[in-house]
Amino acid sequence: MTDRYGVMGHPIGHSKSPFIHARFAEQTGQSMAYLAMHVLPGTFASAIATFQAEGGKGLSITLPFKEEAKALVDILTPRARRANAVNTIRFNELGGKYGDNTDGIGLIQDLRINHNISIEGQRILLLGAGGAARGIVNPLLDERPEQLVIANRTPEKAVALVAQCLSEAGVQENSIKGCGLGELGSASFDLIINATSASLAGEIPPLPDSILRTNGGCYDLMYDVARPTAFVLWGRQHDAAKSVDGLGMLVEQAAEAFYYWRGIRPNTMPVIAALRNSSVGEELVDTNK
Ligand code: ATR
Repeated sequence: MTDRYGVMGHPIGHSKSPFIHARFAEQTGQSMAYLAMHVLPGTFASAIATFQAEGGKGLSITLPFKEEAKALVDILTPRARRANAVNTIRFNELGGKYGDNTDGIGLIQDLRINHNISIEGQRILLLGAGGAARGIVNPLLDERPEQLVIANRTPEKAVALVAQCLSEAGVQENSIKGCGLGELGSASFDLIINATSASLAGEIPPLPDSILRTNGGCYDLMYDVARPTAFVLWGRQHDAAKSVDGLGMLVEQAAEAFYYWRGIRPNTMPVIAALRNSSVGEELVDTNK
């Protein structure tokens, strides 16, 4: 019998996950179906229960249900607990629900493998302190940057996120710092990661012109298959050695979910290329979707 998977979110119409998982299944010879499911807020718990009762094997969870999914599963992987959100659920034969979060590792894999960008020993600036930022902070720290600075429009949220990270075992006090966007002063960075939702409106947070070091990189968690995002353009205008969007992260987090479900790693490169080439009429999308 074909194993059933899917993605639940609201909205869900633009999700590329069915395309991505269909390519992965084809590539690896797995017999599985993967559908996009629109779930209205307030009905998420019952939608999951129904999918599970009907024999579903696993789910991708997207906005706005990642926090609720964390509360609904029976067992969390350490990375889902640290991200405070679940983007992947696996159901077992005994009725158990396991929750994982593959967003952070998706970003790290995309940086490392697809873009050859290393975090270790580098000064990293993370813009934003919302759900998207929270999901990647610990995986970034695991790569041992010289320092990770989180700058947010509302400074208190950056400071709170840093305090939360510091409560984790093994995080050094001087390895992470939180501040407001206006407090960056003359600091400069090797890599700037945009985790604000400003891109959705075609905006970028205000940044000093000298903030990107020579040979530095820019990474936007948002992606747009058809054209560069506002932040990718900002990086190009500021002579970034690399300025890229989050399409690769989307595919890498899906590959990690696929591995969590099926125990097989698909090849992401051809799927990223296929998405990039299918760009006509596309619009800006949040990588969390
Ligand atoms: P997400 O889950 O995408 O992170 P979120 O939790 O609503 O969404 O967080 C959005 C982030 O983008 C926040 O850090 C927000 O800053 P505030 O905490 O000050 O609201 C940031 N953001 C949104 N629009 C912005 C803008 N125009 N300029 C700068 N930051 C912006």
